[in-house]
Amino acid sequence: MKIAVLPGDGIGPEIVAQAVKVMSALRSDGLSIEMEYAHIGGAGYDAAGDPFPAATEQLVKESDAVLLGAVGGYQYDNLPRPLRPEQGLLRIRKGLGLFANLRPAMVYPELVNASSLKPELVSGLDIMILRELTGDIYFGQPRGIRTLETGERQGFDTMHYSESEIRRVAHVGFNIALKRGKKLCSVDKANVLDTSMLWREIVTEVGQEYPQVELSHMYVDNAAMQLVRAPKQFDVILTGNIFGDILSDEASMLTGSIGMLPSASLDANNKGLYEPCHGSAPDIAGKDVANPLATILSVAMMMRYTFARVDVAQRIETAVRKTLQQGLRTGDIAETEMQKIGCAAMGDAVVGSL
Ligand code: IPM
Ligand code: MG
Repeated sequence: MKIAVLPGDGIGPEIVAQAVKVMSALRSDGLSIEMEYAHIGGAGYDAAGDPFPAATEQLVKESDAVLLGAVGGYQYDNLPRPLRPEQGLLRIRKGLGLFANLRPAMVYPELVNASSLKPELVSGLDIMILRELTGDIYFGQPRGIRTLETGERQGFDTMHYSESEIRRVAHVGFNIALKRGKKLCSVDKANVLDTSMLWREIVTEVGQEYPQVELSHMYVDNAAMQLVRAPKQFDVILTGNIFGDILSDEASMLTGSIGMLPSASLDANNKGLYEPCHGSAPDIAGKDVANPLATILSVAMMMRYTFARVDVAQRIETAVRKTLQQGLRTGDIAETEMQKIGCAAMGDAVVGSL
């Protein structure tokens, strides 16, 4: 298993260090894991003047999987767009063709009180958000800021999805649904956007190949509301890049903390980039208080999706569960001061449980 490790910025290096502890423990147990580090985001800019340096691109192309921490920091906020940390992330996604972004939102019984919703609304919750990741308004051309004849400036972006882009991610969605609760809800804005009208048409067409899966469609504004009204109605949510960006942050709060949410971004051959859903949290960087569990759970997803080692994935997930059962919590999920431990201690505890 050749894994590229890209810690990135902010809390990235601390949380990735905990996931590396877990991978090193697995290696001591006989898994053949090879790890190599490279820079991304602000760290790439600092090291090589580029948020996605050529050396990093080379490494990730040669690797089977990528583990990424997070990118972004205040010190980079005024750089021109091509040099900003987020571009590193967008370029690695696009460059590797990682069009299918899986963001599971699961409520652990131990954390049901950490959710911002009432326990009965979220207990047992298990949603998979499948976000298309290489198209949509994120990448559409033309875009920019232009000056109109009136002298006023105007910002503009282009939303588009081609049939093939919709079709391939829809297939991934139906296949995931088949392995879960067999329900797929496609989220769009077909009452206003032409892009969404085509999205809905193609998803419906692909759905005919999966008669075992119950397909429904929902407008994104309603989906945002339903997620906080009755989230357990969902099994798999399939949506485009920008709607998925927003809904996955919303869904994370159902689980108690965005610090618990892993993600997988896959290409057509299950090569993948694995990263926590949360950002680089520069305000708490270097303080040893970040929650490393989303990153550790991202390693579990890597074992499941890229390496087809469900046994190893379950072992990591069980270790996380056990650690939570011991009452250990980072600040974001702690109910009492007594339970609170730091990022590194959490990593050690998971390795202990493993
Ligand atoms: C995410 C993030 C990124 C995105 C940013 C950092 C570019 O919010 O992974 O959800 O918008 O995709
Ligand atoms: Mg986001």
